[in-house]
Amino acid sequence: MTGLTGKRILLVVSGGIAAYKALELIRRLRERGASVRAVMTAAAQAFVTPLSVGALTGGRVFTDLLDREDEHDVGHIRLARECDLVLIAPATADLLARMAQGLAGDLATTVLLATDRPVLAAPAMNPRMWAHPATQRNLATLHADGVHFVGPEVGEMAESGEAGLGRMAEPADIAAAAEALLTPRAIMAATLAGQHVLVTAGPTHEPIDPVRYIANRSSGRQGFAVAEAAAAAGARVTLVAGPVALADPPGVRTVRVETAAEMLAAVEAALPADVAVMAAAVGDWRPQEAAPGKLKKKAGEAARLDLTTNPDILAAVAQHATKRPRLVVGFAAETDDLLANAEAKRAAKGCDMIVANDVSPGTGVMGGARNTVHLVTAAGVESWPSMLKTAVAERLVARIAETLARSRAAAE
Ligand code: C5P
Repeated sequence: MTGLTGKRILLVVSGGIAAYKALELIRRLRERGASVRAVMTAAAQAFVTPLSVGALTGGRVFTDLLDREDEHDVGHIRLARECDLVLIAPATADLLARMAQGLAGDLATTVLLATDRPVLAAPAMNPRMWAHPATQRNLATLHADGVHFVGPEVGEMAESGEAGLGRMAEPADIAAAAEALLTPRAIMAATLAGQHVLVTAGPTHEPIDPVRYIANRSSGRQGFAVAEAAAAAGARVTLVAGPVALADPPGVRTVRVETAAEMLAAVEAALPADVAVMAAAVGDWRPQEAAPGKLKKKAGEAARLDLTTNPDILAAVAQHATKRPRLVVGFAAETDDLLANAEAKRAAKGCDMIVANDVSPGTGVMGGARNTVHLVTAAGVESWPSMLKTAVAERLVARIAETLARSRAAAE
């Protein structure tokens, strides 16, 4: 069973070179148990034929708004409603512009205007078209209208060899985003609405003197994505963030800190919480004393720094005498013996779940957009495929919701 088992997806294919990837996308969606109906724009048919799309969906492909037969037996309103999700892949600049305007001049846009189902778009276009203020304006409108997006990604454009932001997300990532959007909706809405989720993210800076500090390579992206996904699922979210170059996620109370000691204080001040997700890369050590003035180098003399151990924030929360959240999730970034270390950490710190990831050089996890994680719980290990950090966050929030729902049901 996957989150797409039994789900009906209406796939809208618009006309870009990435339309050929719609074929693989259909396979990925069907592999995950979804049934797929396809609508193609006129331009899409210049890139792939309805025959190939229909061969993969295993059904008829819908192309015309004013087709008397289609209108007779299915019709655009039924097409728009008889599905659990409308997925647009690729979503061209033109289609997004027409959607943002509310135009309905062909079957694809009519379906998009008529649907009351969640809509997920996978944009694909030339980087200049993506960056154009007109496209960005349309995207802001569509975001405000509740349209969900996956990608685009940075990559080389098939047609011109140009590189930049605009390449369609990979079919497996689009399928994962569809799954994250669908599976947990009902459970998440019911279980996370109004719950307080506390998230830590980013590195800490431990001052050596007024101008120097000890830090690490954490970008904060994974933790910020978790905070955003939890807020999108209806939770009340407090994000305690170390120094990172990321904007406050929408709808999240964000508390900025520098050091581990400040992070611990902010976390304690934010308790009680129903769920804690500790994704911060807290510095293990700090200089015993931060020098009040800038340290001077002395010719011919090696410098030494006395370090002291920082408090373990995750352990403090997981072992809190009075305010332990019902669910405590830790992260474990390892370069060796990933799973053994993660399980040992879960037990030692007393948390319920550990999200373990391999951060060996070459994996690109630190600071990158993707992550390959293993979820370690008392029940065992679940390995997730490589996916965008935003998808990891959505799936993790879905798992948190499921776990809370199960423990609530067991308690009743
Ligand atoms: O022990 P290690 O740093 O590998 O454990 C990682 C997990 O513990 C992460 O969830 C991290 O946020 C948390 N942690 C913490 N305080 C520390 C060290 C780690 O909260 N001082």
